[in-house]
Amino acid sequence: MLERLQALTDEALGLVQGAGDSAALDAVQTAFLGKKGKVQAVLRTIGSLAPEERGPVGKAANAAKVEIESALGERRQALIDAAEGELAETEWVDATLPPPASTGEGRSGGTIHPITTLVRDMDDIFASMGFEALDGPWVEDDYHNFTALNIPPDHPARDMQDTYWLSDGNCLRTHTSPVQIRAMENNKPPIRAVCLGRVFRHEDLDATHENTFHQVEGFYVDRQVSVGHMLYVLRALLREILEEDVEVRLRPSYFPFVEPGFEMDVTFRGKWMELLGCGMVHPKVLEFGGIDSSQWSGFAFGLGIDRLVMLRHGVEDLRHFMSGDLRFLEQFHGGAEG
Ligand code: PHE
Repeated sequence: MLERLQALTDEALGLVQGAGDSAALDAVQTAFLGKKGKVQAVLRTIGSLAPEERGPVGKAANAAKVEIESALGERRQALIDAAEGELAETEWVDATLPPPASTGEGRSGGTIHPITTLVRDMDDIFASMGFEALDGPWVEDDYHNFTALNIPPDHPARDMQDTYWLSDGNCLRTHTSPVQIRAMENNKPPIRAVCLGRVFRHEDLDATHENTFHQVEGFYVDRQVSVGHMLYVLRALLREILEEDVEVRLRPSYFPFVEPGFEMDVTFRGKWMELLGCGMVHPKVLEFGGIDSSQWSGFAFGLGIDRLVMLRHGVEDLRHFMSGDLRFLEQFHGGAEG
């Protein structure tokens, strides 16, 4: 009986060594150590043995059980280790590599939008001249977008700006000029403020018209402000942005919120180009803002940022700016840093 146990043990250990997965190990376990397994079968015969044989056979059977069990445990662990080792071979990543750009995997670094870059540049320039940057809402009320800017209801100047009206009577601001009114509501003169932001008009889209574009509004109120002050500020701004000493000229123009009002042209690469609207703040606008127009005067200007960015980078179609097209945006890699 002892030889029989030894033979069973050898057989079991051989099978354990040959087992390639945990299912094979389970099968060995059942065949040898299960309730109906081979070792159990030996134990069941003990009762029929001579009394002096029972002790040694029982001991040997238990020792066989322990030996087979520990072989099973070791083999199981070895199989797990091998599987993990294989995973480590095939699934490893080099965490020191940069993430793959623009493949759709991982994160790409992104680029600063050229409009954002120009807005930031302008912010810096205005800050250096002591102008405070203000924000205003994109959804404006009629009063701030038109009426307080001396464009009452039914005024024909309303037709100059094709407006998106909302069902509650508000509109998407058509220009940044309403921020002039908000600046006066919240500050006492002297006021030096700029607002750079998005504006909206209902346009037929083409290469030079978008329904969403960007303006910068400059607004200055002090005692005895003149057109000369305005020209100084605008020249300084354009020199910084276009990186050229530009020539400027004023042409008379009409905006209800300035008097006199002008259109300003600049020379850029040898040609005159129409760039912005400006003028001396209309006394009525100052009064709407709660400022005594006999004591204070001011200038205001508004210019299209998208237009300037087109000049700066030689962009030929305005619609690229809002398109979200990565092929367009990625060209601005390495531009101004955040
Ligand atoms: N708000 C005007 C526009 O969008 C521009 C402007 C601003 C003109 C300030 C004069 C003074 O057309």
